[in-house]
Amino acid sequence: MNRPLAVFALLGLVGLPSVSLLHNNGVARTPPMGWNSWNHFGCDVSAELIRETADAMVSSGMKDAGYQYVVIDDCWQVARDARGRLVADSTRFPGGMKPLAEYVHSKGLKFGLYTDAGRRTCQGRPGTYGSEEIDARTFADWGVDYVKEDWCNAEGLDSPTQYAKFRDALVGSGRPIVFSICEWGSANPWAWGPETGNLWRTTTDIEDSWTSMLSNLDISGQHASAARPGAWNDPDMLEVGNGGMTDDEYRAHFSLWAIMAAPLIAGNDLRSMSTGTRETLTNRDVIAVDQDSLGVQGTVVEERSPELQVWMKPLKDGSRAVVLLNRSALQTVIGASWWRLRLSGPARLRDLWGHSDLGAFTDHFSATVPAHGVVMVRVTPETR
Ligand code: GLA
Repeated sequence: MNRPLAVFALLGLVGLPSVSLLHNNGVARTPPMGWNSWNHFGCDVSAELIRETADAMVSSGMKDAGYQYVVIDDCWQVARDARGRLVADSTRFPGGMKPLAEYVHSKGLKFGLYTDAGRRTCQGRPGTYGSEEIDARTFADWGVDYVKEDWCNAEGLDSPTQYAKFRDALVGSGRPIVFSICEWGSANPWAWGPETGNLWRTTTDIEDSWTSMLSNLDISGQHASAARPGAWNDPDMLEVGNGGMTDDEYRAHFSLWAIMAAPLIAGNDLRSMSTGTRETLTNRDVIAVDQDSLGVQGTVVEERSPELQVWMKPLKDGSRAVVLLNRSALQTVIGASWWRLRLSGPARLRDLWGHSDLGAFTDHFSATVPAHGVVMVRVTPETR
């Protein structure tokens, strides 16, 4: 047994909370919310795109709804300079990263960058391996608030060790920086992620399809016990608005990420989104579930027929957030009973997509759920 695990076991024996082993850097106490360039733009990133995205995050109401981080993924970096510092692509990012971070900050937002724990990034750009300290110092100097660290070109390296190295370097930089671990769930990051970073990918890359979204849901859903304030399972960034799913499917995607207390990192073009996409991404009732301060990741509590699931997330005020998920291709009725929701007595229901109060219910409720869709409610006990 390695040392952290031994300490973990010992704390368990004496009944102390294991949270003492958290990477307690004070940030991401609720799942981080923001935007990342990869899902929509791939390598086509530039300072102009980032400035326009920051503007759109404000003008669309996303900032007011809680989105904060504007994160540039792979392909911003081209080389290292004579002192070993990463160099941004000067054509796409004239002036470098510091003024861009200042621009993002001037909008009341936060700025994020991508790197890779291996020798090169997934797109072949310089990686952080062997340059952990200088990269952490550089990022802090540029005003970076969020770093995603990928795992390409890391053959022969041990991921818990490498990510801990960069965690220590980030702490050493003196700037509170959200640390996003991206090793795709390859070495059980739910076991060591909480003491190493603020979020860790649980899966391979999401695709803009119903089956890919469900596959990431099912994998991340198995590791609920690892999630807590400051430390979150990451089933990958949102595809809402990218065009490969229907509006019902995107509402399901967003609801399920919220009930899993997943990071809500939009991955669409914020500058040209439809009203439907904007309404999905800024649904405050659903966002409140994701951001609930209790910080518990919801799980499946009932599956009476295959493909018809009830997901439940306990909330700080004693309410339960509930998603009725219809994975099938036929509209159908799904019910949820109080005993499965660990409730007793009458409770009031709020429909989180209909934005309406549905009244009081005694011991269960049911609803018609669209094909490939959800109904999402908040169930609040009447007497507490
Ligand atoms: C990996 C990551 C993605 C993205 C790309 C960039 O595939 O999992 O999220 O960062 O690399 O190259």
